[in-house]
Amino acid sequence: MSRTKTVYTCQSCGYASLKWLGRCPDCGSWNTLVEEAGSGRKPHLSATSPVPLSGITLGADHRTPTLIGELDRVLGGGVVAGAVVLIGGDPGVGKSTLILQAMSKLLDSSGGKCLYVSGEESATQLKLRASRLGIDSDDILVLSETSLEVIIEEIEKTRPACVVIDSIQTTYSEELQSAPGTVGQVRECSSRLMIQAKRHGIPTFIIGHVTKEGAIAGPRVLEHIVDTVLYFEGDRSHSFRILRTVKNRFGSTNEIGVFEMTDSGLVEITNPSELFLRERSSDASGSAATSTIEGTRPLIVEIQALVSPTTFGVPRRTSIGVDGQRVNLLIAVLEKIGGLHLGLTDIYVNVVGGLRIAEPATDLPIILSIASSLREIPIAGDTFVFGEVGLSGEIRAVSQAEARLNEGGKIGFKRAVIPESNLKRLKQDAGLHLTGVSDIHEAMESVLRR
Ligand code: TYD
Ligand code: MG
Repeated sequence: MSRTKTVYTCQSCGYASLKWLGRCPDCGSWNTLVEEAGSGRKPHLSATSPVPLSGITLGADHRTPTLIGELDRVLGGGVVAGAVVLIGGDPGVGKSTLILQAMSKLLDSSGGKCLYVSGEESATQLKLRASRLGIDSDDILVLSETSLEVIIEEIEKTRPACVVIDSIQTTYSEELQSAPGTVGQVRECSSRLMIQAKRHGIPTFIIGHVTKEGAIAGPRVLEHIVDTVLYFEGDRSHSFRILRTVKNRFGSTNEIGVFEMTDSGLVEITNPSELFLRERSSDASGSAATSTIEGTRPLIVEIQALVSPTTFGVPRRTSIGVDGQRVNLLIAVLEKIGGLHLGLTDIYVNVVGGLRIAEPATDLPIILSIASSLREIPIAGDTFVFGEVGLSGEIRAVSQAEARLNEGGKIGFKRAVIPESNLKRLKQDAGLHLTGVSDIHEAMESVLRR
């Protein structure tokens, strides 16, 4: 392939240079010049002409379900023809495992062949994983290749039903001089794969590692290019994994899918609330169960707080799974309005199971778990709480109260402490004993009784 001239373009002002420069001579910013393929190599698609909106028909089955319910949920119902899906995540979280399992299921339902391009691992390593997962198929074609040009040639030749690129960081285009994994390469390769996917309507999964530099050459660079971005999260000390939609041109965002990593691969968790409460002890102080909404889905999780006397001067405030600033704000409300003495205490707040929550409905459980730990009074194990807390200690209504209550009832809770204003508007009560509270005093009063 003839090598075309490359240009380096400044990512902040658009200045173009024929050689790489550490500093942009135009805007003066550092390290912003990124290699891009020069003009003259513009990919050309077949000529299209405009069609009236009314003339566009939707195919009845334009989505193919992967038959892994939790994956279909985050994809918005299945795989769309020609869609490019980016799966990002830390190395070792289970991206290759997830995709291999999904491909095997997908082929069962759609037929055809899947081209699995592995630049990370050898064919033997892939085979080892597959046999561990009990997958053995004539229809998964493994290609150990890193050259984009060869990969595209292979796609043209085989015309598979779907393509997997594992990973984008090992793929490189011969048209660029920079090394695989650099911003220029990652971007060039994904946009060419995108064009390829659209041209033949082949769904394409791109795996991308979240690199140490994260924002630089990791999946973030691609977010605006691809159709769907999923992040696979979970820490190594826990067996469960969360698949989160960050962007989806074909469905809603903020959905999550929950899996557990077992000896024989990923297993779907259809009732995550049970999982998050599995090891909960019902008589420990500093623990509050709550119902949080992730996407369209209510989840029951446990929030724990530990309040202990400060040993060295400055009190420590540590939050895992919830926003630390928010916790500081709530601590201030507890001190000033609630009258609790927290000035000389260390406070640790943790969402059990490694989940991350960012919604105001968790204000109340955070406040109550801190108060429970300080006073060493446990909150009854059959009670869960939710509500937003305002700066003057008032409890404010939250969205989807009924869905939250139903989930709690399903899991076996008997009682819920919720915002008074939610209680008033409630149409059904999920068979729970409900207590409405309008400020933090009432809330503490109702759950922290000896
Ligand atoms: P992998 O899919 O290779 O991660 P990634 O592609 O995101 O780098 O999975 C890595 C981890 O998963 C590895 O530490 C082993 C573990 N694992 C299991 O626990 N059970 C299994 O069945 C498989 C295939 C992997
Ligand atoms: Mg991998």
